[in-house]
Amino acid sequence: MTKKVTPYQDSDLGKKEQVTQMFDKISGNYDGLNRVISFGIDIKWRKRVVAILKKKKPEMVLDIATGTGDLAINLAETGAKKIIGLDISPGMLEVGKKKVLERKLAQTIEMVEGDSENLPFEDNTFDAVTVAFGVRNFETLEKGLAEIYRVLKPKATFVVLETSVPTKTPYKQGYSFYTKYVLPKIGRIFSKDDSAYAYLSKSASVFPHGDAFNNILRKIGFIDVVNKPQTFGVASIYIATK
Ligand SMILES: C[S@@+](CC[C@H](N)C(=O)[O-])C[C@H]1O[C@@H](n2cnc3c(N)ncnc32)[C@H](O)[C@@H]1O
Repeated sequence: MTKKVTPYQDSDLGKKEQVTQMFDKISGNYDGLNRVISFGIDIKWRKRVVAILKKKKPEMVLDIATGTGDLAINLAETGAKKIIGLDISPGMLEVGKKKVLERKLAQTIEMVEGDSENLPFEDNTFDAVTVAFGVRNFETLEKGLAEIYRVLKPKATFVVLETSVPTKTPYKQGYSFYTKYVLPKIGRIFSKDDSAYAYLSKSASVFPHGDAFNNILRKIGFIDVVNKPQTFGVASIYIATK
């Protein structure tokens, strides 16, 4: 089991409600902040996810925890007929919907409010499911992953992009300093929500990564599970098959 880290330690609300509240609050600054804290490398990581799926020629794609829709928008390059971007935060979706309209992708991309732990779709619906920087925010990780497994078609692909923790010196020490001291300060300047960025780095440091996450995917039932560490291991792409 993963340790429970929540955005607002003093709140009586559950993790799901707190996460929704936090992302609603930072939605207006999220995209700019993302570029700053990852030095823009997050764009490259999402492109890698798209390249992996493009080869599989998926028709129906679900991007869970889509947020402001960056990955859903990039996924249009796969040629998919339908892409659904699902998120629990109405604030993040609002920003995402505007971006979809601006890019004239409303025919292909539908933005839907929903919970990863109770997906509003039939079994065996999607050729691919993606989650970028979302799984560590799930209240019950295994429940969300089991739902994803359920809505994927047999042999369909699941791709996760998530933060991970570098294991080699000096990246390990550099990463620890950056997430402990620099990241919360940048977050505070941009979002005026101290807890939000303290939560984002704390949740990243305790979330299972590498083999530990591969094993959770296998436990859910996924096969052919592989992980590809990105940029000294500060993020990882996980690929799995139903
Ligand atoms: C760090 S953002 C990632 C957004 C986007 N995928 C990206 O790559 O920028 C995490 C997102 O997960 C969403 N989220 C958290 N828990 C969720 C849940 N149970 N169901 C659906 N979305 C959830 C949040 O609302 C937030 O928009």
